[in-house]
Amino acid sequence: MSIRKKYIAGNWKMNKLSAEASSLAAEIVKGAKAAKCKVLIAPPFTALSEVSKIVKGTNVILGAQNMSNEKSGAHTGEISIDMLKDLGVGAVILGHSERRIIYGETDKFINSKIKLALAEKMEVIFCVGETLEEREAGKAADVVSKQVINGLKDVPEADLSLITIAYEPVWAIGTGKTATDRDADDVHAIIRQTLKKIYSAGSAEKMVIQYGGSVKADNAAGLLSMENIDGALVGGASLKAEQFLAIINSVK
Ligand code: PGA
Repeated sequence: MSIRKKYIAGNWKMNKLSAEASSLAAEIVKGAKAAKCKVLIAPPFTALSEVSKIVKGTNVILGAQNMSNEKSGAHTGEISIDMLKDLGVGAVILGHSERRIIYGETDKFINSKIKLALAEKMEVIFCVGETLEEREAGKAADVVSKQVINGLKDVPEADLSLITIAYEPVWAIGTGKTATDRDADDVHAIIRQTLKKIYSAGSAEKMVIQYGGSVKADNAAGLLSMENIDGALVGGASLKAEQFLAIINSVK
């Protein structure tokens, strides 16, 4: 039996207007009441306020998909951690590959956001993952451990309890291609070894590591049965209550 509680998170990305977000959130809250795992939904910023009212007092945690690395001030277009807290956000997704690749976020920049979130006692889902090119060049393990080391630079061991790591191979996101259970588990094991090197065996053992990349109801159970896979970060399949709830219900 694993000491780690399974964690299923839905990343809605740039989808759902506020009315649609409210009805999706309400269906998820209803269906997830008896969930055996931790559940989070991360709507777009514009729907946080509405969804916040729906998840309040339930077992579904409200997540944000990003935040500024600065506390406040002249940062046009950015969203601060206090703004997120004000809306009842309990966790923030940082370092998603779409932020890294499309918006040029570097390990250093992501590290500054992680440190700010932790200083403010905000939970973080910290995403890492290699591109197809990197995988084909045999560099997946190196790339992912480097992202872990750089992203967690100067993060004290005591703060790790606020962090979940999401391993999301870039080539599996939104493509319908999933890493095999074994391939995913191998990288999760590498992440755990990296944590053991930086911190300790105990912290490595406790870290919840989600897999992300085309997780669906029909592949979730297989992935979640692997020793080092403790949950899922779900994109596309989190946009339909029935599909997302089926993934949640695959945690027995
Ligand atoms: P996907 O996205 O499930 O649509 O592949 C996963 C993610 O990017 O978090």
